[in-house]
Amino acid sequence: MSVSSQTSEGKWYHVETGRRDGKVSLASNVSLPDATISVFDSTKFFASKNLTPNDMVYLLGGHTVGVARCSLFKDRIYNFNKTGGPDPTMSPWLLVELKDKCPRISLIFDNTYPLDVKTPSLIDNSYFQEIKKGNGVLQIDQQIALNELTKNIVHDIVNDPYFYTKFGEAMVKLGRVEVLIDGQGEVRKSCRVVNKKPFIFGGQQVFCTTFSCPPCP
Ligand code: HEM
Repeated sequence: MSVSSQTSEGKWYHVETGRRDGKVSLASNVSLPDATISVFDSTKFFASKNLTPNDMVYLLGGHTVGVARCSLFKDRIYNFNKTGGPDPTMSPWLLVELKDKCPRISLIFDNTYPLDVKTPSLIDNSYFQEIKKGNGVLQIDQQIALNELTKNIVHDIVNDPYFYTKFGEAMVKLGRVEVLIDGQGEVRKSCRVVNKKPFIFGGQQVFCTTFSCPPCP
């Protein structure tokens, strides 16, 4: 069975339903690569999940929306590879922007900056256009536009009117990674949270999640 998921530009792709998810959701259980991972290591990481370099580049198109914290790319602005200077692959425009939004020393706030520097709230291929111009915010974003393993894929996406379809296909493949089977996990009512569990508290039936108050029995 499948349902449709809508991108912010009104394009649709079908996602498979009935996937079982874990009953516990903890950031500490998630294995995600660092923003400084090399393209080669990243292709190996995606391959370990049965995803090709092509899937990887389309999926990184997920960075067409959302933001990253300055602390995760500050080295690229002020001390790239311990050189005391910026990452030479960063465009002069982006360098000025990021220096403004991410001061070298900020003791309290960890500001954020959009991963797609031009249209951060639209799912479009502007992320790919921008990384080709040196406007990749994370190191991995910039590197996929430059590395021999992936730069042709990025080039093709920039000129691809079917970007949305292929992005959707890669998302469906991602949804098939390490699926729980049989009695493991649960099908979530809302994909963002583990299901609430009923229990009796103070004589009344209440519903809880693992971290709700009152805590689960
Ligand atoms: C090599 C693979 C990847 C790396 C190294 C990576 C790294 C990152 C990092 C460092 C951030 C910023 C997080 C923060 O500031 O707390 C981020 C944000 C984000 N990533 Fe990725 N990512 C990868 C793949 C993906 C994929 C495959 C998707 C989705 C298909 C994705 C979607 C997002 C989104 C939507 C955000 C913004 C989150 C927000 O605004 O709160 N990323 N990523």
